[in-house]
Amino acid sequence: MGHGFVAEDVPELAIAVVASHRGNGIGRRLLVELIDASIACGHRAISLSVNEGNPARGLYESLGFVPIARHGLTLTMIRYADGAS
Ligand SMILES: CC(C)(COP(=O)(O)OP(=O)(O)OC[C@H]1O[C@@H](n2cnc3c(N)ncnc32)[C@H](O)[C@@H]1OP(=O)(O)O)[C@@H](O)C(=O)NCCC(=O)NCCS
Repeated sequence: MGHGFVAEDVPELAIAVVASHRGNGIGRRLLVELIDASIACGHRAISLSVNEGNPARGLYESLGFVPIARHGLTLTMIRYADGAS
């Protein structure tokens, strides 16, 4: 179980883009597609974990993820299907 685990019915996601292709908008598009797919599947929320200093945190927050727990330097973040925090 990773620090992104919230509940059995909340899928935990982890994404990465090949280093040589980062910064081209792929990560944001991938995340938008994953959010849309999870909603289409009927999931009430999705979660992830990220180190608080990782610039990816800003990407997640811009798409509606909010922190709900902390384990040392690692944040657990959740995004509800309706985008509410
Ligand atoms: C996080 C990651 C998936 C983002 O993918 P990407 O294709 O580089 O992201 P994008 O090009 O769509 O950028 C998304 C936003 O995040 C910001 N961002 C993401 N990683 C960043 C970094 N390392 N440095 C600075 N900004 C970063 C961008 O500025 C961008 O902001 P904008 O859309 O407002 O312009 C990719 O950087 C990655 O694989 N990182 C290593 C693995 C990792 O840390 N995964 C997340 C663990 S939770």
